[in-house]
Amino acid sequence: MNTSARRQVKEIVEQMIKEQIQSRSLQRQKPLVVANWKMNMSLEKALHFLNSVQSDPQEGTVVICPPYPLLYPINIAMKKLQTGVQLGAQNVHWKDHGAHTGEVSVGMLQEVGCNFVLIGHSERRMAGESEEAIQHKVKQVLQSGMYPIVCVGENSEEFKQGLTSQIVKQQIEAALKNLPNISNMIIAYEPVWAIGTGQSATPYQAEKVHQTIRQSIHDLHGSIAQRIPILYGGSVHAENARSLAAYENIDGVLVGGASLEVKSFQSIIRSFNKELGSA
Ligand code: PGA
Repeated sequence: MNTSARRQVKEIVEQMIKEQIQSRSLQRQKPLVVANWKMNMSLEKALHFLNSVQSDPQEGTVVICPPYPLLYPINIAMKKLQTGVQLGAQNVHWKDHGAHTGEVSVGMLQEVGCNFVLIGHSERRMAGESEEAIQHKVKQVLQSGMYPIVCVGENSEEFKQGLTSQIVKQQIEAALKNLPNISNMIIAYEPVWAIGTGQSATPYQAEKVHQTIRQSIHDLHGSIAQRIPILYGGSVHAENARSLAAYENIDGVLVGGASLEVKSFQSIIRSFNKELGSA
C-alpha cells in the first residue's frame, strides 16, 4: 500500500471512530441510580427513607432493591407517596412456579410492582450461582418485560493478574448469548474487590472496563450496545459519584452501603442528575 492510500485508510478509520464516539454521546441516556439494600433495613426505616427520596423521571431513574419481605409494603407506600422511585428485587428464579423452596418467580415480583431485578450479583455467584442459572434468569426476565440488571466483575486475584477484561468478556458472553431481544438489558460492572471495601475503582479504570463491556455487547448484538446502560458498582459514595458520572460510558451506579443513608443516597442521585440529567 502506498503512502497516500495508507493516509486515506487512516483518515477513514479516524472518521469512523469519531462517528462512533459522537453517536455514543448522542445516545447517552438519562442516569440510572440503583440502591441494593442487600439484607438490611427494617420496614420502619424503609418508610422513613421513602418519605425523603424523590426522583424526577425527567432527570433520571432511581430504583430501590429492598429485601423480599419489604417489596409489598414498599410498593403500597410508593404508590401513595408518588415519589417517582421504582422498585427492584435482588434476585429471582427462572421458573414460573413449582417446588422451589425459598425462591420467587418473575410473576410474583411483577405482582408487587417490581420492574427491575438484580441478576448474578457477586455475593450470589459466591454462594454458588452458576453462569447457566444466570442465563436462564436473564432470559426469563427479558421475556416478562422487566429490566434485568446483570452484574459482572473480576475478583481481587483476577484483578492483580490483569485478567479483568477477559473475565468481564466471559461473563457478558455467558449471560447475553442467544438472546433474541436485549433492549431492556442493564449491566452493572462491580469489581468484587471494590464491593463493601471502601476501595472503589477509579472512574478512569471503570470507564475502561465499561468500554470493554460495551464492545462485548456490540460483538454479540450489534449497535444496540450503544443504548444499553452500564452502571458502576463497588464503594460508590457521595464523594466519588460526581467524578464517575463525568465519564462517557458510566451511565449510572449500583450502590450498596451508601444507599442505606438518605443523605448519601440523595447526594449520589444529585451528582448523576447534574452530570447527565440534561442528556
Ligand atoms: P457497596 O456495594 O456500594 O457497599 O460497595 C455495592 C453492591 O454490592 O452492589
